[in-house]
Amino acid sequence: MVDLNINGEIRSYDVPDDMPLLWVLRDVAGLVGTKFGCGIAQCGACTVHVDGRPARSCVMSVSAVGNRQIRTIEAIGRDPVGQGVQKAWVDLDVVQCGYCQSGQIMSAVALLNVKREPSDADIDAAMAGNVCRCGTYPRIRAAIKTASKV
Ligand code: FES
Ligand code: FES
Repeated sequence: MVDLNINGEIRSYDVPDDMPLLWVLRDVAGLVGTKFGCGIAQCGACTVHVDGRPARSCVMSVSAVGNRQIRTIEAIGRDPVGQGVQKAWVDLDVVQCGYCQSGQIMSAVALLNVKREPSDADIDAAMAGNVCRCGTYPRIRAAIKTASKV
């Protein structure tokens, strides 16, 4: 049994200690907004927040999470920064196929939580690990800038 704090709710999960967090989120907790892409921490599709910082849930075992707070895309609209990012994403029509976008949004919100007015270099550094096969990078950058002004 592993206790996890996911989106503010602490629950016990009957899973092996070494199960990746992504598997628990998607297959056990039913939180399928977080995506599986590469499985080796190279694409960012599985990004969640662990104590507010972006983390690749495909390579983080549940035992490594401990009692830290996990936030997933399902709860990202619960605070003003997350709401601003969601609105900017919609207003600028960022999404193409959508597969990478929950990870992109998690990284964007984590950036804006520590830096309200990021430079292009800050955005490049924060978003470097999030790959988009559809090439939505210019719209992602524009949406982060828009969200930073709210
Ligand atoms: S699925 Fe985790 S980084 Fe690609
Ligand atoms: S929107 Fe298709 S992979 Fe990013």
